[in-house]
Amino acid sequence: MSELKKLAAEKAMDYVEDGMVVGVGTGSTVAYFINALAARKDRIAGAVSSSEQSTARLRAHGIEVLDLNATGPLPLYVDGADECDPHKRLIKGGGAALTREKIIAEASARFVCIIDPSKQVDVLGRFPLPVEVIPMARSLVAREILRMTGGQPVWRDAVVTDNGNWILDVHGLAITDPVGLERELNQIPGVVSVGLFARRPADVVIVGGQPPRLF
Ligand code: 5RP
Repeated sequence: MSELKKLAAEKAMDYVEDGMVVGVGTGSTVAYFINALAARKDRIAGAVSSSEQSTARLRAHGIEVLDLNATGPLPLYVDGADECDPHKRLIKGGGAALTREKIIAEASARFVCIIDPSKQVDVLGRFPLPVEVIPMARSLVAREILRMTGGQPVWRDAVVTDNGNWILDVHGLAITDPVGLERELNQIPGVVSVGLFARRPADVVIVGGQPPRLF
């Protein structure tokens, strides 16, 4: 599977143009993208990072990490996903970086999602849906999610996000209305962000293979 991730990540370099500030996601697929980006580091203006993990990796390669408040809107964001449906709607947050990932996706003109074929599904929800919560609201949010969706929220053990928050992973969902569910869950007090990228889906999905497949 890692070879397929690498093939998708390297194909994403087709979207990187000279002088760009590139938004960079988080995860093992993105790690291959950062390796590829490093080979062109003298031709880009820098990167905006979605996690402490990616920041460390970018800096280790000598790529300058910039503050989104200073860069303004970005031309390109490249990130992986845990699930992707045929409409390019995603579940993300397996690496607990969903909130910063969502911020950068929103700030970017083009979101290129890089996945291996195992991430493709017809209906989102087989992968437990990550929800970042303010710690004091954990049990409140869990009860509300159970009431609203019937899904089973499970507190992700020993994980504190880069923002100092906790993660609930919601099991047992079949998400037939991702935009509606994203909107509803976002209303619960204490929810920081929901790992559904449906209101702002990917613009291009690259599925790793020989050759990579784009849709
Ligand atoms: C991190 C994410 C990742 O993009 C997602 O978990 C996929 O990771 P990987 O590329 O390691 O399979 O959303 O929060």
